[in-house]
Amino acid sequence: MKKDLTRKAVLDLEAYTPGEQPKDKSIIKLNTNENAYPPSRKVEQVLTGPVDRLRLYPDPVCMELRERIAEIYNCSVDQVFVGNGSDEILALCIRAFCEKDGFVGYFEPSYSLYPVLAAIYEMETRPIRLPDDFSWTMEEDYEASLFFLANPNAPTSILYPKKTVRAFCEGFSGVVLIDEAYVDFSRENCMDLALSMENVIVSRTLSKSFSLAGLRLGYAIGPKVLMEAFYKIKDSYNVSRLAQDIALAALSDLGHMESNVDRIRQTREKVSGELEKLGFVVFPSETNFLWTKPPEGKTAEGVFNDLREKKILVRYFPGELTGDYLRITVATDGEMRALVDALRGC
Ligand SMILES: Cc1ncc(COP(=O)(O)O)c(C=O)c1O
Repeated sequence: MKKDLTRKAVLDLEAYTPGEQPKDKSIIKLNTNENAYPPSRKVEQVLTGPVDRLRLYPDPVCMELRERIAEIYNCSVDQVFVGNGSDEILALCIRAFCEKDGFVGYFEPSYSLYPVLAAIYEMETRPIRLPDDFSWTMEEDYEASLFFLANPNAPTSILYPKKTVRAFCEGFSGVVLIDEAYVDFSRENCMDLALSMENVIVSRTLSKSFSLAGLRLGYAIGPKVLMEAFYKIKDSYNVSRLAQDIALAALSDLGHMESNVDRIRQTREKVSGELEKLGFVVFPSETNFLWTKPPEGKTAEGVFNDLREKKILVRYFPGELTGDYLRITVATDGEMRALVDALRGC
């Protein structure tokens, strides 16, 4: 018998569990925070374009796309990195900024990929447990090589004020990756921190507000030296030619994204009120999903199962910190009406 060929850290790893993608198209899918509305028509035009261009490798450093992103944020292309989804950027952060004897920090609960990435790279973690209302908290003299800060946080949907985030970044000796996957649905963002502080990076994605989760396109903005580190260690061609072209089309039609975001925000406010009328606790959401606790006498798991039987899929995260709650994507008005009707009968 040969010795184990796989690293022990990988054998022992509890892998990240992505939300279910059911085959049954009649299911109302409110479990993975995708956008219920289609992407820009400009995206469609790219997809019907000539295929001959696919013979060639893509631009390894995504220059045209970076120029467009730099134009949007009024910064230099050296401050922009483009990745295969923002998940790639998160993994690169550990590889670029963490020495073996360092620590990776994040809140609990937050995006469940953070501890998985730390485990893959055999990094020790220093999680900060959030209080019962999931509001901001921080240990005094807290140190780590890297802190993953999802803002707004997921799965709690809560936005931390920029003032608080700035004060934390100023006092923190490592790199802060502000994961703004949902920020287009919020009142405020921290982009100016990434453009002015030497230890702050903001990551964004086209997966949510741009309706392009299937594309896999994320980008980071931050100090030139930190972006250079990403370019040194990334895969040679980490973003496909098609993804670069489509992202460029989507980012040249910001109006389309903004009007979808407006619709989703309006639906979010309506459905929050409806759920509260049914006795659910709903946290103030700055995202395209709701974090909610079912009324007395009902369990989150029970409601999840009841909804599933009615062909509505929401997200339930078992466990001590999250097991009392459900995360529900805000989709179209019609889908939300079906949700509320189904919950009345649960
Ligand atoms: C907080 C957070 N960050 C990042 C991501 C991943 O984004 P992407 O699709 O760009 O990899 C998600 C996906 O759900 C998320 O919830």
